[in-house]
Parts: sequence; structure tokens; C-alpha cells
Amino acid sequence: MLDIKITKTTNPKPLPTEDNPLVFGTIFTDHMYVMEYTKGQGWHDPEIMPYQPISLDPSAMVFHYGQEMFEGLKAYKTEDGRILLFRPDKNIERANNSNKRLEIPKIPEDDFLNAIKTLVKVDAAWIPTKPGTSLYIRPFVIATDPFLGVRPSDTYKFIIILSPVGAYYPEGLNPVKIWIEDEYVRAVRGGIGEAKTGGNYVASLAAQIKAHDEGYSQVLWLDGVERKYIEEVGAMNIFFKINGTVVTPMLNGSILPGVTRNTCIQLCKEWGLPVEERRISVDELVEAAKNGTLEEVWGSGTAAVISPVGHLRYENDVFQIADGGIGEVSQKLYDTVTGIQLGKLEDKHGWTVE
Ligand code: COI
Repeated sequence: MLDIKITKTTNPKPLPTEDNPLVFGTIFTDHMYVMEYTKGQGWHDPEIMPYQPISLDPSAMVFHYGQEMFEGLKAYKTEDGRILLFRPDKNIERANNSNKRLEIPKIPEDDFLNAIKTLVKVDAAWIPTKPGTSLYIRPFVIATDPFLGVRPSDTYKFIIILSPVGAYYPEGLNPVKIWIEDEYVRAVRGGIGEAKTGGNYVASLAAQIKAHDEGYSQVLWLDGVERKYIEEVGAMNIFFKINGTVVTPMLNGSILPGVTRNTCIQLCKEWGLPVEERRISVDELVEAAKNGTLEEVWGSGTAAVISPVGHLRYENDVFQIADGGIGEVSQKLYDTVTGIQLGKLEDKHGWTVE
């Protein structure tokens, strides 16, 4: 494992005060991690340095062809002062799967984890402790060759920044209204939908704006071929409880393999709920909404953890899910996942890393 050079800031910023709510992704800590990649040499010179702008050639490949990968995970401070990461091995594994799809070189797992742990420790004072807050960790890789031809870059930067955050959606755990999108699509099988990369998020913007303009918080994505099968919701995975069974779209190549998705599936199974990972069509969903068997809908992701859905709009129909409030399973998942993350509940799966 490579040694990380650490240079601490001589000009620390004031920590956010506990009185103002933390808006997701707006405040950054005092330090950042940077490691370089050069073809022939591999990953080298990892450094933690004061948080600062980076200087890149305007021809750097990331600006032109989007060769980049990002991840997201969180650190929490427990009541007895320990710092916990939640399933970082899963994020590291997914990062390297994304890297593979994007022709970005693999990052050694031990250097990746050491980078996160060391940076979080350096900026530990920035981990917020108010309920619903955490330190969001954003690792990313960018292609830096100054070149306008289309090919994989020979040089990269791997950077990690940290942001103390509150709820991702202003609604928090309050149910959101979702627009089922049948014009734009987010990803197609064989494309890059299962990689965590900026291209999938820019592809989502036009539909997000359209939904917002109509008074909806987010979009429910249908598959890119038939516009018939459900894929994701906003930037999250989607779950339904239909007639007692928890159903989530199976991973098919165009769906992001969410860490929170995997956690929800495991917990629901342990609670004795039948769980099905399969194709689910929008027709089946509308039918369940109409005949009263659609009991709950929620999104799962690192940023929001659980985001209950209260209303769905498809074509010209609006469906309220049950009483439009927070469902029982959604609430139990939120309480259990955040309880484990905060060290308040027993971590019998060994999901947290100190
Ligand atoms: C999530 O954590 O749910 C995400 O997809 C990250 C988001 C901030 C883009």
C-alpha cells in the first residue's frame, strides 16, 4: 500500500454551526485527497492537501468525452465518539466495476480504503452529529490527458472530497410525488447505466426539469427499449410493496447496483418479507395502484437513504399510494439502516467499518 503524504491547511475554515440546516453538497471540508495515474507507472503519489481548486489543461479529456467515475458514501460519528463508514467495500467494488466499463484503470482496494479512512480522520471535526446529518464522501476519477482524439486517457487524477450534509431532498422522509417518464430515458442495456458516471446524471436532467415544472419531485425511469419496464427513480433504486411482496427491478445492465438497494433486500428478507428481483412493467404497477394492492413505494440511495413515494403520475392519471404517508416498511428500513450507520443498533452483518 502506498504511503500518503499529508499537508495540513494553515488556514482552517470555520466549521458549520449546528443552528443552520446543512443543505446537501454545499459545504466542503478543509482537506482533499489526490492520487495521480500515469500509464506505465500506475497509481502514484497519493497526497492529502488543503482543499483547493485544481488546474487542468482545457483540452483535458474529461471535459470533452466525459471519461469519469464517481462514488458516494458516508461517515458517521457515534454517540461514544467512534467514526463509522457504512459498507465501504461495496463502494470500492462498484467503483472498480465502473472503472472497468469506462476504461479507467483499477484503483487498488487497500489504497482506496486507506485514502477514505485517512482523509476522514484528518477532517473528523467536520462530521456533523445532528439527527439526519452525516459526512458525505465523494471519490471520483477524471481523465486528464490534454488530447482531443477519442480514446482512453493515459493519465488520471483520483480525488476525494468531503461534505457535511443533511437530507438530500428538501422533503426529507416526507413522501415525494413522482412523474413516470415515457419520453426521455436514462440508460439502455449495453450502455453505461450500471456504471456510476456523470453521463447518466446529465442524461436525467431534461426529464427532471420537466417533472419539476409539472410540480413533481423526481422521475420514475422506464427501460430505454420498450418504455415498458421500470428501472430507477431519480438518482435512486426503486422498491414496491405489492400485496405483501417487496418487488424491485432486477439488475439488468442499465440499473445502478445500489449499496442501499442491496441492504434493503437483505433486511426485508431477514424480516420474513417475500422479496422479488424481477422485471416489473408500468402496466403491472398501474394495475396494482388501481386495485389497491400497491401498499408502498420507496426509493433507496446513499444520499437520501430511503425516500418514500406518496403519489405517482402516469400519462393523465395520478395515483396516491395507500394514504399518501410514510409506509411501514419504508420507515422500518430508514430507522434500521440509519440506526446501524450511527452505531445505535447492533451491526450483526459487519456492515460498519471503524
Ligand atoms: C445517491 O446517493 O442516491 C446518489 O445517487 C448520489 C447522488 C448525490 C447523485
